[in-house]
Amino acid sequence: MRQPLVAGNWKMNGSRAMAKELIEGLKAGIGEVSKARMAVCPTFVHLPEVASLLEGSSIQFGSQDVCDRVGTGAFTGEVSGEMLKEFGCTYAIVGHSERRSLYGESDEFVAQKFAAARQAGLKPILCVGETLEEREGGITEEVVGRQLDAVIELEGVEALADGVIAYEPVWAIGTGRTATPEQAQETHAFIRGKIAALDAEVAGKVQILYGGSMKPDNAAELMAKPDIDGGLIGGASLKAADFLAIGKAAG
Ligand code: 13P
Repeated sequence: MRQPLVAGNWKMNGSRAMAKELIEGLKAGIGEVSKARMAVCPTFVHLPEVASLLEGSSIQFGSQDVCDRVGTGAFTGEVSGEMLKEFGCTYAIVGHSERRSLYGESDEFVAQKFAAARQAGLKPILCVGETLEEREGGITEEVVGRQLDAVIELEGVEALADGVIAYEPVWAIGTGRTATPEQAQETHAFIRGKIAALDAEVAGKVQILYGGSMKPDNAAELMAKPDIDGGLIGGASLKAADFLAIGKAAG
């Protein structure tokens, strides 16, 4: 019922040449991905090029961030959801742990970004996840619950049905240390259960992706879990063969 989604977060990587080569590679192989929807999230500057390369393709694309405000105005350095929508973006990642930890984005600020993206007609990909210290302190659910609550309080639980959730344990990002399928499933089930307690229909609909060192060799067992509906992929999304292999692993 929930279509798997495999989205690539390029982070601050890429060049025009690399983007072209990677997108050509993905277009050449996408026919072999039967079940999953695939998407890429390049940097803002690479978006127009990626948009034009993907014209007519089933591969979707999105941004890695979005301004928390709607409309236009004196907000130097910011890019609005409307601008991203005009370029054909489907998604906007919000609240990635790198933005939360390196750029000081709070739960409330991330919720504003979720709201702004949604208002522009984008699907926000809301990233949540705990640090190693928080996991070892036994407060994973408290942290993830708080991150979700900020959006639910601002926008209502129904808003989550317009977006995607990505559970990305911070200790698994870029470390090669993946959560076990059981660990990931446990938190995914917690997230879905928390939403279900408020609205069962939304809980049944919302895609919950796993992110954190997902690779071709561990993707299938992660995505086989009942509450894991795909992946948000960093490093492995920069190689067409690896990213496509993860797409195929979704079934
Ligand atoms: P890696 O796949 O490189 O661990 O990154 C995951 C991530 O942060 C995706 O948003």
